[in-house]
Amino acid sequence: MKSKAHLKSHPIHPMLIPFPLALFTATVLFDIAAIIFNKEALATTAYYIQIVGVAFALIAAVPGIIDYIYTVPPDSSAKKRAGKHGILNTITVIIFLVVWFYKRGESPSAYIFIAAELLGFVLISVAGWMGGTLVYRNHIGVYNRYGNSGKWKEQYFDSSDKTLLVASVNELQENQMKLLHIKDKRIVLAKTENKYVAFDDRCTHKGGSLAGGSIMCGTVQCPWHGSQFNVFNGYVTAGPANEKINIYTLTEQDGNIYLVL
Ligand code: FES
Repeated sequence: MKSKAHLKSHPIHPMLIPFPLALFTATVLFDIAAIIFNKEALATTAYYIQIVGVAFALIAAVPGIIDYIYTVPPDSSAKKRAGKHGILNTITVIIFLVVWFYKRGESPSAYIFIAAELLGFVLISVAGWMGGTLVYRNHIGVYNRYGNSGKWKEQYFDSSDKTLLVASVNELQENQMKLLHIKDKRIVLAKTENKYVAFDDRCTHKGGSLAGGSIMCGTVQCPWHGSQFNVFNGYVTAGPANEKINIYTLTEQDGNIYLVL
């Protein structure tokens, strides 16, 4: 799914995370080197690198939180994974910040500090692994488009009306989808070869976003594990999902498409 925090469709969070990763790793290495070579200057270098790492981690967290809230599909395996990823990163930042704070009054290369930093290094490595799964398997921030799918489209509605104007007849091209956020609901509006259709965005397998998948010949395919659903009746045409998706009624009037909830 396209990231909400992006620069010309490039997600910002993955651009920033190499900085804290590299800086925290360098902190541990400089502190260990300070002990091995008995050089105070190396420990001092680690002390300054460390606080810069904390600053970059906080900056990188901002687009990460935006993507957690707006891009990761709700009620999905990726949402749980992203939550754990965020908790591990938060603990890591707290560890490096606390160690930096106490280094001021102590021997800056004390073994206790190195032990805590090593723990932080392990935690951020596990969090990084999860981040890789979120991108490479769950496609969070991956803007994958297929032939004729057009640009990514989504629209927010704050209305409690039971009938909503969701598109004009010519807004979507054939096999293009648009994600509708209607209060806490996520519904996909799509144009098939014959007509407009609307269905739940949530794949019934593990919650993948169908709007981030592909649609062709009246079948939508989930981007996570390839489940396929008939967009006219919601039935599964290929697993691993085995539960149908909800289908919504649309009406057409005066060149506009209305969704009936
Ligand atoms: S989440 Fe697994 S196929 Fe959709």
